[in-house]
Amino acid sequence: MSASALEQGEDAFRKIFRLYRKKNPPADLSGVLEFRSGESRLRSAELRVNAVSDQDAGRVGLQPLGFLFIVNPFLPGWQHRWVRQCLKLYPRKPNVCNLDLHMSLESGRDLWDHSHAQLRKKSPRRRSEKTLLEKLRWVTLGFHYNWDTKKYYREHQSPFPVDLAELSRCVSLACGFPNFRAEAGILNYYHMDSSLGIHVDESELDHGSPLLSFSFGQSSIFLLGGLSRDVAPTPMLMHSGDIMVMSGASRLLYHAVPRILHYPGGGVLPPCLSVPPSNDGPNALIEPCAAADWEVCQAYLQSSRINMTVRRVLAEGGSFPEEDADTQHEAAMRGHGYHTENNETQEATQAHGYHREQ
Ligand code: SIN
Repeated sequence: MSASALEQGEDAFRKIFRLYRKKNPPADLSGVLEFRSGESRLRSAELRVNAVSDQDAGRVGLQPLGFLFIVNPFLPGWQHRWVRQCLKLYPRKPNVCNLDLHMSLESGRDLWDHSHAQLRKKSPRRRSEKTLLEKLRWVTLGFHYNWDTKKYYREHQSPFPVDLAELSRCVSLACGFPNFRAEAGILNYYHMDSSLGIHVDESELDHGSPLLSFSFGQSSIFLLGGLSRDVAPTPMLMHSGDIMVMSGASRLLYHAVPRILHYPGGGVLPPCLSVPPSNDGPNALIEPCAAADWEVCQAYLQSSRINMTVRRVLAEGGSFPEEDADTQHEAAMRGHGYHTENNETQEATQAHGYHREQ
């Protein structure tokens, strides 16, 4: 049928076309799908402005990316593995943690060796003394953050864990950051009375790359503020498995964790799957979490939260400012062993020493 024939006939399309073309009286719009109402038969798609850089978005008038909150994207059973890595593997040498000096006195045993039997055996109420694992406050990976100078040093680095680098690569790629490179990690270990002071993560030399944050275990309240402390923050709940990406305009916003809390359904992970997840295979980067290991992790998480932040330190082609090698070495080493006292309050304050006081 020719186009002109269609124009003249009253086919279904034309009927509707005429209905909505009419201005006087205007058509009833109640049958028109409204995607914003959330009740439409069709799914609306979010504009993924994060798939382009803030700069490119800004050039054509789109809103900048800012802050991304990803509700637990982990497959069942896979959070367990990351928790196990945080407790069993990442605190080991060559990574750096607040208990290093203590551990060097106990030759040949690591935190896990030292604590797992005690953690597995008894409920926290019956244990009078905390295990070393429960005294762990922070671990640094890759370029080791120096809590004294609030800097990173070229000389003070160890290989970034391959599995966590790959997780970070996948998440950042999915969020539209193909150039992200995991170069430094700070793992924070919280208990029910811990908090994290108001701060901005600005020590990295590259603020153009996002900061990735992964949370496991008990829930927390996260406060996201503005570029100055005069801006009232937005409170949000962060549960186990949730991921935050602070990028673009949100990369240098003030933030803090004022509270860890037992939130119904928020922080309790189901028992470890006895059957490994189906997509396990020779290519899996992290091994399944053995049931015996999970018992320890579960006991730990009853009253704890773990947060891993992953950062890129150097911009593409960038380097550390030239400093006298001796000064660098001295400064790099100074940020260590002092986080070793057993006094809980002092340790917690020191562990979060880079966070400003409230
Ligand atoms: C968090 O624990 O959720 C935040 C960690 C950080 O800001 O360094």
